[in-house]
Amino acid sequence: MTTPKTFSTRQIRQDFLDFFAGKGHTIVPSASLVPGNDPTLLFTNSGMVQFKDVFLGAEKRSYVRAADVQRCLRAGGKHNDLDSVGYTARHHTFFEMLGNWSFGDYFKKEAIAWAWELLTEVWKLPKERLLVTVYHTDDEAYDLWHDMIGLPPERIVRIGDNKGAPYASDNFWQMADTGPCGPCTEIFYDHGEHIAGGPPGSPDEDGDRYIEIWNNVFMQFDRQPDGTLVPLPAPCVDTGMGLERLAAVLQHVHTNYEIDLFQGLIRKAAELTGTTDLENKSLRVIADHIRACSFLIVDGVLPSNEGRGYVLRRIIRRALRHGWMLGVRQPFFHKMVGTLSELMGDAYPELPAARELVEKALKAEEERFAETLDSGMRIFDDVASRVVDGVIPGADAFRLYDTYGFPVDLTADIARERGLSVDMAGFEAAMEQQRETARAAGKFTSTTGLPADLVAQLSPTVFLGYDKLDAGGLQVVALLKDGRPVPAVQAGDDAVVILDSSPFYAESGGQVGDTGVLAEQGVQFDVADTLKFAGQFHGHVGRVAKGGLKVGDHVVASVDAARRASTILNHSATHLLHAALREVLGTHVQQKGSLVAPDRLRFDFSHFQPMTQAELAEVERRVNAQIRANSAAEVHHMGMQEALDFGAMALFGEKYGEQVRVLKMGDYSTELCGGTHVGRTGDIGLFKLVGESGVSAGVRRIEAVTGQGALDYVADEERRLAEAADLLGGNAGEVVDKIRALTDRQKKLERELETLKARAASSATSDLGGAAIDVGGIRVLASRLEGFDAKALRDAMDRLKQQLGDAVIVLAGTADGKAALVAGVNGAATGRVKAGELLSHVAGQIGGKGGGRPDLAQGGGEDGPALATALQGVPEWVRERIR
Ligand code: ALA
Repeated sequence: MTTPKTFSTRQIRQDFLDFFAGKGHTIVPSASLVPGNDPTLLFTNSGMVQFKDVFLGAEKRSYVRAADVQRCLRAGGKHNDLDSVGYTARHHTFFEMLGNWSFGDYFKKEAIAWAWELLTEVWKLPKERLLVTVYHTDDEAYDLWHDMIGLPPERIVRIGDNKGAPYASDNFWQMADTGPCGPCTEIFYDHGEHIAGGPPGSPDEDGDRYIEIWNNVFMQFDRQPDGTLVPLPAPCVDTGMGLERLAAVLQHVHTNYEIDLFQGLIRKAAELTGTTDLENKSLRVIADHIRACSFLIVDGVLPSNEGRGYVLRRIIRRALRHGWMLGVRQPFFHKMVGTLSELMGDAYPELPAARELVEKALKAEEERFAETLDSGMRIFDDVASRVVDGVIPGADAFRLYDTYGFPVDLTADIARERGLSVDMAGFEAAMEQQRETARAAGKFTSTTGLPADLVAQLSPTVFLGYDKLDAGGLQVVALLKDGRPVPAVQAGDDAVVILDSSPFYAESGGQVGDTGVLAEQGVQFDVADTLKFAGQFHGHVGRVAKGGLKVGDHVVASVDAARRASTILNHSATHLLHAALREVLGTHVQQKGSLVAPDRLRFDFSHFQPMTQAELAEVERRVNAQIRANSAAEVHHMGMQEALDFGAMALFGEKYGEQVRVLKMGDYSTELCGGTHVGRTGDIGLFKLVGESGVSAGVRRIEAVTGQGALDYVADEERRLAEAADLLGGNAGEVVDKIRALTDRQKKLERELETLKARAASSATSDLGGAAIDVGGIRVLASRLEGFDAKALRDAMDRLKQQLGDAVIVLAGTADGKAALVAGVNGAATGRVKAGELLSHVAGQIGGKGGGRPDLAQGGGEDGPALATALQGVPEWVRERIR
């Protein structure tokens, strides 16, 4: 018997892509885990996400067949596997999906034939180990498996949707509550009778024997928010095969954690945590979570308290808690990144490129959680030991969440390990307030959508504005009023005009939209802003000032040239700034957002502490050096992969088309960018930083001005300096010396004032000694001293004790409606009267409190009429005490 062939995960990815390339598929790169332009979805949860608009007919690509290896995350939303990680043999937060697609091209027959060919001929899986499911009414798929492939009926299982099927299985796949969907056929692998579990559709189908490895979806509908199904423009194919499950099959192991990739991670986790048992469940969780966390950070997510950032935080904290269970008390998780990068960097070069950022972000979060993890675990133990009904009260779960940073699913996870549960309703009740806030913050608005039939019928706007600011003969292809298409608009109407082509830049990539005028004979439309609709149409937003416009009319478009000219300086400067920040601070700097307006620029980037003055000065100096170098700004068009090879920086989480535009300024900056830019860097003139601040944990913001704006800023600063010099009676060059002299002089005056005050106080107190009265041989003094602070009071107390000998003294220093109190007991009075009690007695009468030693006590209260009465009562109080 020959040993069956084993395939590494690397090999499997390559075989898959090669196979489908051979069937005429275009190989596309994995998209970000953060879906570009899709507010309905938290994370990319399947390979088809980046093609959603292509299925819907809202986006066209140059190919009709595609294949890829897509990084996916199922930790929130419709598809969520976070709770299963570590408990099952094959659930992950992060996983890789091999997928092939047909966009209105081939359908069921080819999809099924190729899936079979790849599995049984390339990877040589034994045919008798495979069985399939089909949607219960899909006779076409059934017949293909039966007649074309030759599968016997007992290995083709019809599965209904939730309503029809005896068990929970459904064979109708849907990416989210809305969007593309359709019936599917799934291919299962039988791991052998030595493993418990039944075939799909049987009562024990959840066992581990029969494992789904490949899902082929026949996309036919778009699910609407109200649940109805609208047919897609053309039937499509969407397939997805979990790389990790397939690797388990092709490496002849049973659980995903035994495959090459996971073993590498588990060994590293074992080393870092000093664990010898490689089967330990916590190691699996850590190995799973490091992938999810690292790729989320690669794709621009940072830990935070809401939305995607909170999902990341929850996953990190779960991993850290498992480290804690293994006895680790020091940051360790970030040290997994290097190993992960070695294992997966060739398939995802974006990971090694962002390694520094990933490590820093994870380490910062580890340090943060370390402060509360230990105490939180003690609180949990304490609560758990008092639980009687097996349920952790919601209020305690909330306290762990609120004070100790334990996400509730983490608490639930710990509870589950101890055979307990959490009162989720109670927790939710306590959380309601925060939930409202988070929901409001996570709400997406979409004002720039267009009806699908309009999208289907229009061609994307041709942008003329890279080299022209005025253009004539442009045709009005659509008009919107109140968000709805209309045939015509009249003077006074607020409307959106869509043209076949336009020199107006539509807001994107941080650059603001152009303003200006659309005109024809007797007609004027004032453009207040230009926005991108459905990602490809430039919508001129504004008001009809004169005449009327109807679809089909032709207009002349003129962009406000001065405004655009200022904007491009800021845009080009943003690129230079980005490059300079990476040079000065490190390559962990990633753009997190930007605003490029005519009068200023704002640039948000990942960095973990405030920038120093020296770093700011250095960044500004480097940008200005690039401006003076006056390099040409060149634009190149190329394929996405070519651009990355060319060294272009792409923004993670941005959606790019197949063909990208690359802007290169000298040898300094190369970025993907669709914006408008200077011809040469020298056009920017001058770059001035005007502010640096924090936006959220790990994100800093720089604000800056350029060109005339920078000159105005400098002029303004100069004017202020001149004003200051004027006030100081000198010239600008002397300002610093003059201020230094002034502050020295002020310090000297303050010292003199202190001495004088002390002298005045001592003469005031020596006069005071005379006011003491005799109570049973003890000198008693209670006095108010205007303007004395606590220190002056204590000095006076020391002097009066010396002067009076056997004495009980209370002094009240008053200022700004407050009274500072000090009480002292000296000589023979000691032991008979307690200073602390006396002080409480006095303070209590003036709404205050205080205390101290038997011989000296301090406190305070309100300065008011009650103070005089309280002080007057002191001799009587002493008399009572010593009687
Ligand atoms: N989109 C399908 C899935 O995720 C292929 O199963």
